[in-house]
Amino acid sequence: MEKTTINESKLIELAIEARQASYSPYSNFMVGAAILTESGKVYTGCNIENAAYTPTNCAERTAFFKAVSERERKFKSIAIVGGSKDGLLDFCAPCGVCRQVMMEFCDYDNFKIILGKSKDEYKVYTLKDLLPMGFGPENLSD
Ligand code: THU
Repeated sequence: MEKTTINESKLIELAIEARQASYSPYSNFMVGAAILTESGKVYTGCNIENAAYTPTNCAERTAFFKAVSERERKFKSIAIVGGSKDGLLDFCAPCGVCRQVMMEFCDYDNFKIILGKSKDEYKVYTLKDLLPMGFGPENLSD
């Protein structure tokens, strides 16, 4: 966890660092994520695989669950980096389950999803871009 002023490149660097902790002996696909909270803190995560496969947790959800379990509820952006263990990073889009977790905690129009190939090469999307017609908490309120 870190508290400082953070830009997109810095968030990608933190995701790249977090990726080193990836536990991915089955896919050999290593992913790292770094989430920036509204208050300026960063929570990182990596993917954690399992011999039974389905308990696998993506890097994004690891980061979100770490943050939420520390009482964080407001998020500005997430940087995601991924690629095979021995290859270069490629743009790594979040899976559908992770997009749905973002839907629970993030502003639909403004939450930024930064897909990084390096700290200087990245694409930025909103949650709305990546999850059109999303179903979220507002659908259950009167
Ligand atoms: N994975 C992530 O951690 N995040 C993504 O955005 C895509 C996929 C992980 C899950 C699994 O450990 C490996 O990458 C291959 O799917």
